[in-house]
Amino acid sequence: MSGAIPRHVAIILDGNGRWAKSKGMPRVYGHTMGAKNVETVCRAAWNMGIQYLTMYAFSTENWNRPGDEVSAIMDLLRSYLKTCKKTAKKNNMRVRVLGEKSRLAPDIQESIAVLEEYTRQFDGLNFQIALNYGSRDEITRAVNRIIEDRDSGVLDRNEPVTEELIASYLDTAGIPDPDLLIRTSGEQRLSNYLLWQCAYTEFYFVDIHWPDFRENELRKAVEDYGHRSRRYGKTGEQIVEESSEGQASV
Ligand code: IPE
Ligand code: IPE
Ligand code: MG
Repeated sequence: MSGAIPRHVAIILDGNGRWAKSKGMPRVYGHTMGAKNVETVCRAAWNMGIQYLTMYAFSTENWNRPGDEVSAIMDLLRSYLKTCKKTAKKNNMRVRVLGEKSRLAPDIQESIAVLEEYTRQFDGLNFQIALNYGSRDEITRAVNRIIEDRDSGVLDRNEPVTEELIASYLDTAGIPDPDLLIRTSGEQRLSNYLLWQCAYTEFYFVDIHWPDFRENELRKAVEDYGHRSRRYGKTGEQIVEESSEGQASV
């Protein structure tokens, strides 16, 4: 593959419902096949040299879906968390869950705690699953915890609140910002995903529905990323100069 490999890829896995509908099947079938695709993409990502992968599985807004769809997704999640323990060991993958866990059923919270603890030592792919995740909720929780910690003296009241401090209170603390964000199924919006973390992320939108998004699709997205020029507010000339300086010093 030519070009740079993103260290962290975030995915909004969208289109399970439309994929199922296109096959004359119920939406839940799309979620089942979508869940099956998760491991395939995790392995492909690691084989390509991606170190962090973060998938959006259930948003704070998804509770507004019909009750039977929400229950079916929660059941799929239960079985996914069980298989994930095995595949994480096999693939040496560290799993973390982003989002507000207390609204999830107690048995799901327990499985998450077990999975996070069990995989803590694994040093292959860092895989984050965003569950009951909403970026505004995450930022609001972070601000409230900063206030609590200032009130209780854990944080020094005279120290200013910095970007680093806020980042360290987010669910993604310690995880680098995404380099590339992929959204499947044609929609071009963030849907409350990683708003803080995606300040300088490259976006890639693809029409393919999530259950059909395989290794070759990920490869295309990564190739595309490899040809982007990330300027971070600087000029294109500065970036060329910096990269030639970098090469000269190697
Ligand atoms: C993504 O697929 C999975 C979740 C949001 C849980 P959708 O269920 O949003 O599929 P579409 O967008 O309705 O096709
Ligand atoms: C975003 O997808 C949430 C997840 C992928 C989990 P949605 O399908 O819920 O997003 P909207 O409602 O179309 O923006
Ligand atoms: Mg959708």
